[in-house]
Amino acid sequence: MDLKLNDKVAVVLAASKGLGRAIATTLSAEGAKVIIGSRNADELNKTAAEIQQLTGNEVIAIPVDVSQSEDREKFINQAAAKFGRIDILLNNAGGPPFDKFENFDEQAWQKAFDLNLLSVAHLSRLVLPYLKQSGSGRIINIVSGSVKSVLANSVLSTSMRMGIVGMAKLMADEFGSYNITVNNVAPGLILTDRIKDTIPKGADPETALKEKSKSIPLGRIGKPEELAAVVAFLASEQAAYVSGTTISVDGGANRAIF
Ligand SMILES: NC(=O)c1ccc[n+]([C@@H]2O[C@H](COP(=O)([O-])OP(=O)(O)OC[C@H]3O[C@@H](n4cnc5c(N)ncnc54)[C@H](OP(=O)(O)O)[C@@H]3O)[C@@H](O)[C@H]2O)c1
Repeated sequence: MDLKLNDKVAVVLAASKGLGRAIATTLSAEGAKVIIGSRNADELNKTAAEIQQLTGNEVIAIPVDVSQSEDREKFINQAAAKFGRIDILLNNAGGPPFDKFENFDEQAWQKAFDLNLLSVAHLSRLVLPYLKQSGSGRIINIVSGSVKSVLANSVLSTSMRMGIVGMAKLMADEFGSYNITVNNVAPGLILTDRIKDTIPKGADPETALKEKSKSIPLGRIGKPEELAAVVAFLASEQAAYVSGTTISVDGGANRAIF
């Protein structure tokens, strides 16, 4: 299926590795011009060069800390100037720490708010004028399976992602008249460094990952490119009538019926 992303410009945040990198790679392979952002400039430049080498399409790296307001403004100004348009915004960021509710102080909540909720609101607002001009704009937010069923120790993540789910519903409602769709993708367990870092020190990684897979109906942890394929579809012309939804990519891990 031709996703018709050839003339599109996509901005992908938190993309030097993990889910963001896989999404940038898939969109680029589908023909989009991709602009990637994350903090470490060396890592980001390396990733951009590797994706471009792989797909043959232009990939631009612009360093940004999505938790910082001024950075967000500079980033979008520079990104928009590169190709004169933005058609697709993929909101993503590093995840907040895992722990019990009683262990997070006010500062930890503020940090998670700036990184995972305010960044989505502000970046979307900054890109909105370009998406209106695009005529078929797309906002896609990476959230978490924890918006569908309880995940222990994820109170910061869950609280911020639930905010995104609500925000996306309102955005879908308001932006429909501009032909802009707004959707969320909720990863279950997808193998990235964030997941590898949760393996207890000294444990055998393969055994630990097998243990984690036991509760997943498909019996395995997902691959970043499997999540990226769903994002690419949501970004495509074919997904023009999908808006305001949260789609799980979790191997069936969420057992809720609705
Ligand atoms: N993987 C999963 O199974 C899973 C499941 C549920 C939810 N999620 C969520 O999905 C998101 C991506 O996770 P991942 O697994 O891809 O993580 P990852 O492999 O650790 O990659 C994180 C990426 O985010 C960038 N980043 C971190 N903080 C940033 C900031 N302040 N500004 C800009 N970029 C930043 C990192 O680059 P720099 O450090 O250079 O900035 C890196 O490129 C996270 O929010 C995570 O909680 C993941």
